[in-house]
Amino acid sequence: MSKVTVVGAGKYGSTTVQRIAEWDIVDEVVMTDIVDGLPQGLALDMNQSRPVLGYRTKVVGTNDYADTADSDVVVITAGLPRKPGMSRMDLLGVNAGIVRTVTEEIVKYSPNAVIVVVTNPLDQMTTLAAEVSGFPKNRVLGQAGMLDSARFAHFISEAADVDILSVTAVTLGSHGETMVPVPSLCAVGDTPLTEALDADTIDELVDRTRKGGAEIVAYLKTGSAYYAPSAAAASMVRAIIEDSNAEMPVCAWMEGQYGIDGVYLGVIAKLGRAGVNEIAEIGLTDSEQTALAEAAVAVAEKVTDLKEIDY
Ligand code: LAC
Repeated sequence: MSKVTVVGAGKYGSTTVQRIAEWDIVDEVVMTDIVDGLPQGLALDMNQSRPVLGYRTKVVGTNDYADTADSDVVVITAGLPRKPGMSRMDLLGVNAGIVRTVTEEIVKYSPNAVIVVVTNPLDQMTTLAAEVSGFPKNRVLGQAGMLDSARFAHFISEAADVDILSVTAVTLGSHGETMVPVPSLCAVGDTPLTEALDADTIDELVDRTRKGGAEIVAYLKTGSAYYAPSAAAASMVRAIIEDSNAEMPVCAWMEGQYGIDGVYLGVIAKLGRAGVNEIAEIGLTDSEQTALAEAAVAVAEKVTDLKEIDY
């Protein structure tokens, strides 16, 4: 039996559950939350959509971690989202406490799981989950690059007025100010992005991508984005469950790739049952390589913040 748990039944968690269930790729998806009744009600509602959409995956809503036992993959969405004007860093203290507790429960019931973290601030929360779990680092990874790349692709398709599905877009680095959108690896069909759009336009799109989450928070006023984020998280779960070795941008533990060591950073990796199977070292321009190294330094500094608040 294959089983996925999603911790947190907020918008991000519940839409992630919905996408995984509707793809019909696992037997069971467990959705757990501290709010009594919320995961149970959402699960019942989702299960009743099965005959209409024609899939079998069963969703179990619960407040009890015992129900998550022996999950193959656990997605941690639990935590508070940003409010307008708040940075992902402002969330550090409160979400660190939540992620620590959740990770301890996961380790207790699913000692062999792959953990996918999406709680912000993403790079620190992924580091924290890895440390608390004691799991091999390839079994703990974070979701950000898939989302940031998808946002970049959307902006490119609008600016170039082309089919969204013809756009290839890549972002590396951190999920925040030191995000590294990589124009040299982006394309519109067979045309390199740098030929499809002028440099100023690309710079604008890079900037908008870096602030992509905040743009949506400002519109929504309460809560943050969840449709594209859940699509990104669910696609990572799919690659792990199907052991597909699909390459995607994720937040992974660096062991010397690009000359960077001992930090969680957004890079392109192959995903499978083991979590991160391999980090792909793709050719970057000098300035992109420098930006990636700077992102690594920035994340390492932020991990120090985590230690300062005693997590
Ligand atoms: C965002 C949040 C999910 O970027 O990090 O929208």
